[in-house]
This record gives sequence, structure tokens and C-alpha cells, in this order.
Amino acid sequence: MAILRICKYPEPVLRRKTAEVKKVSEADKRLIEDMIETMKASGGVGLAANQVGVSRRIFVFNPSEEDWRADALINPAIIKRRGTEKTEEGCLSLPGISAEVRRYKHILVEGLDTNGRHVRFEARGLLARIIQHEVDHLDGKFFIDRINPLRRMMSLRRFAKEGAG
Ligand code: NI
Repeated sequence: MAILRICKYPEPVLRRKTAEVKKVSEADKRLIEDMIETMKASGGVGLAANQVGVSRRIFVFNPSEEDWRADALINPAIIKRRGTEKTEEGCLSLPGISAEVRRYKHILVEGLDTNGRHVRFEARGLLARIIQHEVDHLDGKFFIDRINPLRRMMSLRRFAKEGAG
């Protein structure tokens, strides 16, 4: 296992839409292990493949701080959404800044697990938020794209001054 370099805003790979995974390969499985290791080392709760420079539709997540149960989802699709709430969010690709972002409270998500098996589950609270944030990454979006333009400009100015590097 290895700790990978996390790409930072505004590296172009973060803005590109990632490619669907046709078949979960051994290389994908190794990537997932490395992404989990990298997320753990960075103290993150989620990490998308394009954040480590790989433009494939894969993310890892760990919603539980006490009980380390990181998992991966491949080709994720949110198929139902219900209720919204605004909560503070940050991102490993935008260190040093955070903002309140409106997200759905409950979602129904489907995709493939690490073994290529189809999975479908309901998520709420922090897990639902992580999944929406990571699916955004896979579509080339950042959480700051979901806040008002003035706040975004101020956040990016702060990031350019302090967060980069
Ligand atoms: Ni992020």
C-alpha cells in the first residue's frame, strides 16, 4: 500500500468528468487500497480517484470516526433524493477553506463494490453528504461550486493566500 499525492485546486484533472469503470481490475483494487490509506493518513472522510490523479469513477469513504470501516463505491449513481440541510464542508483538494453547503439529507445510491458486485443502499446524514461530495468530484465539481459566487470568490482568495502549497 502507498500514500498517494492529493491533487489540489485548480489542477485540471479535478475539473474533468471521470470515466466509467467497465470492469473492476486488479489495478483498480490496488488503487482503492492506496486511496483508503491516503484518506486515512490525511484524516479525510472521503476521497475520489481524480483527487489522486486517476480519472476513473471510483471513490472511497469512511463515515465513522470511532469504528474504521472504509469502503469504496464504483460508478456511483444517486437515484433518489429527499429533504435538504446546510452543513459545513471542507475538501482535501482545497485545504484550509470550508463553507456551508446545502445537500440532500437522504439519498438512495447504487454502484459497484470492490468486487464488481452491484450494490444499492440508502444513506443519510454524514454518509449521504460524503457520497454527494464525492460524486461531485467525479463529475469535475467542487463543493465551492455550490455556494454563492461572492462567498466562493472570498474562499478562493483565502485559499490562494494560505491554503496552496
Ligand atoms: Ni473533496
